[in-house]
This record gives sequence, structure tokens and C-alpha cells, in this order.
Amino acid sequence: MAEARLFHWEYQAPPVPLETIRIDGGRPLRGEVRISGSKNAALKLLAAATLTGERCRFTNVPEIADVALMAEVLRDLGVVVDHPEPSVYEVSAGDVDWLFVPLEAAAKMRASFILLGPLLARFGRVIISNPGGDRIGRRPVDLHVEAMEALGATVGYRNGYYFAQAPGRLRGGDVVFPHVTVMGTENAMLAATLADGHTTIRPAAREPEVDDLISFLQDMGAEVQRTAPDVIEVEGRRRLRGATHDTVADRIEAGTFAVAAAITGGEVTLKGAPSAHLGAFLDVLGAVGVELAGDSDRITVKGAPLGSGAYTATHVETAAYPGLATDLQPPTAVLLTQARGQSHVHETIYEDRLEWLTDLRSMGARLKVEDAHHATISGPAPLHGSEVTMGDLRAGASLILAALAAQGPSTISGVHHVRRGYEDIERKLLDLGAGIEPEPGP
Ligand code: EPU
Repeated sequence: MAEARLFHWEYQAPPVPLETIRIDGGRPLRGEVRISGSKNAALKLLAAATLTGERCRFTNVPEIADVALMAEVLRDLGVVVDHPEPSVYEVSAGDVDWLFVPLEAAAKMRASFILLGPLLARFGRVIISNPGGDRIGRRPVDLHVEAMEALGATVGYRNGYYFAQAPGRLRGGDVVFPHVTVMGTENAMLAATLADGHTTIRPAAREPEVDDLISFLQDMGAEVQRTAPDVIEVEGRRRLRGATHDTVADRIEAGTFAVAAAITGGEVTLKGAPSAHLGAFLDVLGAVGVELAGDSDRITVKGAPLGSGAYTATHVETAAYPGLATDLQPPTAVLLTQARGQSHVHETIYEDRLEWLTDLRSMGARLKVEDAHHATISGPAPLHGSEVTMGDLRAGASLILAALAAQGPSTISGVHHVRRGYEDIERKLLDLGAGIEPEPGP
């Protein structure tokens, strides 16, 4: 990682090579794909390992750029992070000597802010960069900071950095959020595991990745429980021990591949898909008319032939879990381009997550972005290949989906965005019969 500079205004993001892929669309995808471990669980599990000096071992960790970056951020702190074999990480935070998370880490990955809670709780202080906003909205961290203050920390803000302190020990308290926040819940919970006394967090996020983190913390000896659907209670401990954990499967990756099958008129079995975590999304697929079969860890998605107009328009609205995941809204929008009638998309979590729909329109979709939170999509509209650039992770994956369903070739640049969160996406699509190849450089 580049040497840390203190001032945010001095920072210039290093240039990222603009990798491009070419997709020849219109081929039905067929076969089986194995769903990887969840990005949004793995990042928090790795951070949680800093709560103890003992060794922690994680399996089913996705091989994605964000995980590699989290490992690098931890190593910069003095944490030993081993990667003995694919999908396995071992973390030993016995000698943490540098309680500073620089802008270089935060600018690349908002999830680096999850280190606030565990480092503060274990070492009593941390300086951590404000991750700022990104392409899908402002995404402030005020609720994380307020949660630390509710646990007795003092947090100052200077030059883009939070200076958090809790001399002695954090103390248990009531953390009350004005609305659900996933990482806010996780940061509060991680901090509370080592605080003095009892903490109640409400409304606590109900996402399956939060429960995966709870089960790891329990194995570390933490006294943490979900005592009601949206309440988490923690009785702080003086120290935690090392533990091993198998990362929960990635429901967002599963949903993305489900749309790939549906939109190309193919038939794909998602092996290891966490069906129980996909309820709201599978309901949308059902309402649209996508054929589904399977059991608890296997879903077979059978699409209607491309251009048959067999799908039906519907209304979708994103919400905190157990509602429809905002991260599956972009893939769902691609599917709705092929549904007969007018569909409505209501994005309730982020204010900029519909902007990418203009790229989808350039591929032939008939849609209108009404305002920051609402869009209408009319279908079925045949998609055609185009030259497009990814702007973020989920929109990037959705451009790939649109290109798979489009007639003719597409070139998509900015592929580093999907590498952040989808393990081996090109190989997995190739194995299902997609026409996808790297575009030779200039
Ligand atoms: N918010 C605040 N203040 C805060 C924290 C959040 O106003 O201090 C707002 C956000 O701006 C947003 C809403 O609260 O409007 C909910 O955000 P949340 O805190 O739940 O999001 P997050 O924890 O930062 C995680 C995932 C996101 C996913 C959201 C919602 C990780 C690393 N990221 O973000 O995943 O969209 O929950 O489910 O867990 C992705 O994987 O592509 C991704 C963006």
C-alpha cells in the first residue's frame, strides 16, 4: 500500500488500468455454478479477528480484490495475515503496532471503516480515515461514530480523519440507530464484545452476514445474541479467543447468476446458494415468471427463451433485510427490461443507485429514471451490444448481465469494479457457455 499522507486534499487516487472485456451476447447459459463465500461477511470476519491476539482461521473466503485489500490493510497495522490455500485466510493480531487506517485504504474500500469498532475496543484508540462517499450515494459514517460515543468513546474529526479514544475500556450502553445500518450494527457489536458491561443495539440490521459475524464472535467466546429480530444484546468480555469459521455463501452473487440464467433463457443450477437468504428476491423472480426449483443450498433457475416476452412486469422496492437487497436491484432491473408491461423500481437505500440505468438504456432498454429513487422500465425491449464503462460493483455486474442477453458484441471497460466483489466471474460465466473474452489492449 502507498505511504500514508495525512491530508485528504493531498490525496490522488492511483490510476487503475482500464481493463476491458468483450461479450458476444444472445447465448443461453447452461450448467452448474458454485456460489462463493460472501464478500460482505468475509470483510467483517477478517476485521473481527483483530479482537484477539490468538489465531483465527477462515474458510470459504471469496478470492476477490476487496478481501485482498482488507488483508493488506490489516498487514499494514502489523497483523499477520496468511493465505495458505485458496479461500482460506489465517489472521493473528498478536502484535498490532500501528493504530492508523489511512485514506489510501478508505478511498478504495468503504468497508475498511469496520476496523473502527474492534481496534478501539481492544487498544483504546485508533485514527481512521473517513471513507467518504462513492458512486452510489453519500454514504456517511455518522451512525458508526455515534455508536462508539454511546459506548463511552470520544471521537474527534480533523483533516478527514476520525481520532477515536476510549482510555481504559469502552463501557456497555444503548446504541439506538435512527434507521437500520448494516456496518453500523456490526461496528457497534464488535466494539461491545470487549466493552465493560451490557450493550443493546436497536434497530439491529437483520442481514444474514450480521448473523454470520455473530456466530463467529460466539465461537471467539463473546457473549452476543440476537434477542429479538431487530435487537442484538452483548455482555462485554475482557478478552476473546481465536476461532475458526466457514464464511456464509454470497446471496448477492447467487442472485446475479440467477438473473444471468433467466435473462439468457438458459438453465443454471446455483450450487451452495443460500436459498433461505434470498426470499424477497426469489419472490420477485416468481412474480416475473422465472421457473425455480431447488432446496436449501441449491437453486435451479430456468429462463424463458430470449425475446419470447414470457415474463411479466412487476413493482420492486428495495429494503433492509428481509426485504429485497439493494445490491440485487441493478440485476433485477436488467431482468425487468424483458418483462411485458411497465415495471416500477423503487430504490429506498441509496440516492444514486439508479444512475447506471442510462447505460442500460444505451443498450436498448426502454426506461425512465423519474427521480433519485424511482424508475420505470417498459418491456420487453430487445437489448443490443454496446460500448459501456462500469461505474461500480453491482452496476458493473449488471452491465455484464445486459450484454449476455444482448444481440451482438459489447465491450465493457472498468472490469476492476466487478473483481472487487465477484470471484472469478469471467471463468464462471465461460463455464456456463457465455461468449466472454478479454479485449486485447490498444
Ligand atoms: N448511513 C448513514 N450513516 C451511517 C451509515 C449509513 O446515513 O453512518 C446510511 C447509508 O448512506 C445508506 C443507509 O444508511 O443510505 C444504509 O446503509 P448501511 O449502513 O446499511 O450500508 P453499509 O453497511 O455501508 C452494507 C454493504 C453494502 C450494502 C448495504 C445495504 C458492506 C461492506 N456493504 O453497506 O454492500 O449495499 O450494506 O445492504 O457490507 C455492495 O456489496 O455492493 C454494497 C454496497
